[in-house]
Amino acid sequence: MKIEQTTNLLQYLPALKDMLIRTVADGASIGFHAPVPDAEAEAYWRVVDESVSRGETLILVAHVGDKVIGTVQLAPSPKANASHRAEVQKLMVHPDARGIGIGRNLMIALEKLALENGRTLLILDTLTGDIAEGLYTKLGYTRVGTVPHYTIEADGSHGDTTFFYKHLIQESKSAS
Ligand SMILES: CC(C)(COP(=O)(O)OP(=O)(O)OC[C@H]1O[C@@H](n2cnc3c(N)ncnc32)[C@H](O)[C@@H]1OP(=O)(O)O)[C@@H](O)C(=O)NCCC(=O)NCCS
Repeated sequence: MKIEQTTNLLQYLPALKDMLIRTVADGASIGFHAPVPDAEAEAYWRVVDESVSRGETLILVAHVGDKVIGTVQLAPSPKANASHRAEVQKLMVHPDARGIGIGRNLMIALEKLALENGRTLLILDTLTGDIAEGLYTKLGYTRVGTVPHYTIEADGSHGDTTFFYKHLIQESKSAS
């Protein structure tokens, strides 16, 4: 299994679609309602590919050959006052490959990638109570708080979302 950055996402398109569809079907709250139609999954990855081409998104894939078993994205902020900040997005591991450290290793690799790109503050959010919260806490992310009713699930119910951050380097406070 390799974890690497790619700028040629479409080479993995069938596997990426399968992972997204399976992950959402498995109950993940990552912006979609189950079942995700094949066309919606394909359109999503093509939009990500375009964003990667423009340099607005950096993406890591964990793969065995052509079979992608995990992925995570980094969106560096384009704002002038946030050139040190990036958002972690869409961490997902294929349901058949969970519980063996791929999620943790993707996050560790993403932090390294962030630092290489000059980003020292990471922010992310996740469904409150999700197992991902345990992963982020163990990796040293600080829980900021929870926004109730942040999402609307397929059955019309609301989901709460918890926000986290991590400073990858401890910076001294700048003068105000
Ligand atoms: C969250 C997710 C990425 C974890 O990936 P994974 O490869 O299975 O995770 P790992 O094997 O690296 O485990 C890392 C930590 O996650 C937590 N974790 C993973 N599986 C867990 C489970 N079944 N129950 C409880 N905690 C679990 C644990 O804290 C674990 O640390 P530990 O091994 O020291 O106990 C994966 O479950 C997933 O893709 N979920 C659906 C998508 C999603 O919700 N993404 C988060 C969006 S913000």
